Amino acid sequence: MQFGDEGKGKITDYLAEKSDFVFRYGGGNNAGHTVVVEGKTYKLHLLPSGVVRGKRSLLGAGVVIDPQVLLDEISALGKKPNLGIDPRAHIIMPYHKYLDANSEAKKGENQIGTTGRGIGPCYADKAERTGIRFEDLLDNERLEEKLRQVLPIKEKILKHVYGVEFPHSLGEIVQEYSAYGEKLREFEADASLEIAQALKAKKSILLEGAQGTFLDINFGTYPFVTSSIPIAPGAGAGIGFPAAKTEKVVGVAKAYTTRVGAGPFATELLDGLGDRLRTAGNEFGTTTGRPRRVGWLDMVLLRTAARLNGVTEIALTKLDVLSGVESLEVCVAYDCNGKKTGEFPAKMSDAEKCVPIYKTLNGFSITGSEKKFSALDRHAQEYVKFVEKELGVPVSIVSTGPKRSQTIMKK
Ligand code: IMP
Repeated sequence: MQFGDEGKGKITDYLAEKSDFVFRYGGGNNAGHTVVVEGKTYKLHLLPSGVVRGKRSLLGAGVVIDPQVLLDEISALGKKPNLGIDPRAHIIMPYHKYLDANSEAKKGENQIGTTGRGIGPCYADKAERTGIRFEDLLDNERLEEKLRQVLPIKEKILKHVYGVEFPHSLGEIVQEYSAYGEKLREFEADASLEIAQALKAKKSILLEGAQGTFLDINFGTYPFVTSSIPIAPGAGAGIGFPAAKTEKVVGVAKAYTTRVGAGPFATELLDGLGDRLRTAGNEFGTTTGRPRRVGWLDMVLLRTAARLNGVTEIALTKLDVLSGVESLEVCVAYDCNGKKTGEFPAKMSDAEKCVPIYKTLNGFSITGSEKKFSALDRHAQEYVKFVEKELGVPVSIVSTGPKRSQTIMKK
């Protein structure tokens, strides 16, 4: 519901247990999900969290795949995943990573702070209709033909715009990427058809998002966004299933706010308290290791996220990280040029100027061993109820630590 890194890995793993299928609908290995199961930590970037539990897990057409990363993740898993990859999914090619790094470097002060994984250039090629898809890795003649068209253009851009010599030949790329295709061939699956069949068979399906609402290419803090559609309605388009079939939308929100990379962040804490929360919450990127920017909970973001995603319930994570802070500020509205607003502005020129209006709530203390909502410190309960009241959406899950046992079902 915010800028990603809300702790989706843990929540999706939790929900995956009761699901027959887990689908990922967008993004690529810019995401990072940490899942702790039976004392073992899994750091996943591409694989849906469901694979850890052996669930049928699918990467939909809207996902972008770095095949080397996917193969590494499969081997780190230590067992063969029950995985399906839609042949329509686009492939992150070596020149995408070069373009990402070099275009960021050229932007200087205006850098987006991308993860450097080639995500933006890959989605750009998809939109330009010059992308390489998973199906192309399965047919080396097709791959070679496509690369003959696209590679000379990428080489020219790298050389003449960025002054960089692209070091890989067409032959090398065809050989390397066809080899990835051979290893991944067994996972080819029409995810959109599989979801239709699963719906018909009344199976339980979990659609797992990545990134966050305000990194959405349409509704995020553009241009400080990713290139996919992380919001829940993006699931239908990214997998190919009728959005109207969605029964529940669980919005994962952190009890405070964090952001990696550049872009507006109204409630950012630039003082010692920010450092304290960063350390307490281990707020360092799973993907890049970068320290995350940290700030107070922002109800303006959450209100807008609740609306855009159509959330029916909320999983509030990392409540324990706020434990011991004497009093807590929560942003309830923005003052944008003297005008009070409860919704995130549509115009970035307005958003950049907004100042948060805070309400102070009592601090609380959490041990992480509370098993029921009613066992939580009274002020912690009040904090959660405040979020519910402000959003008009129930909080169904409260997370008080990284372990599965530190998950309180509130309903
Ligand atoms: P890109 O997706 O690598 O192009 O990065 C664009 C922006 O999205 C940067 O600010 C990244 O830090 C941010 N971003 C992308 N994926 C994630 C994520 O999974 N969690 C948090 N931030 C992300």
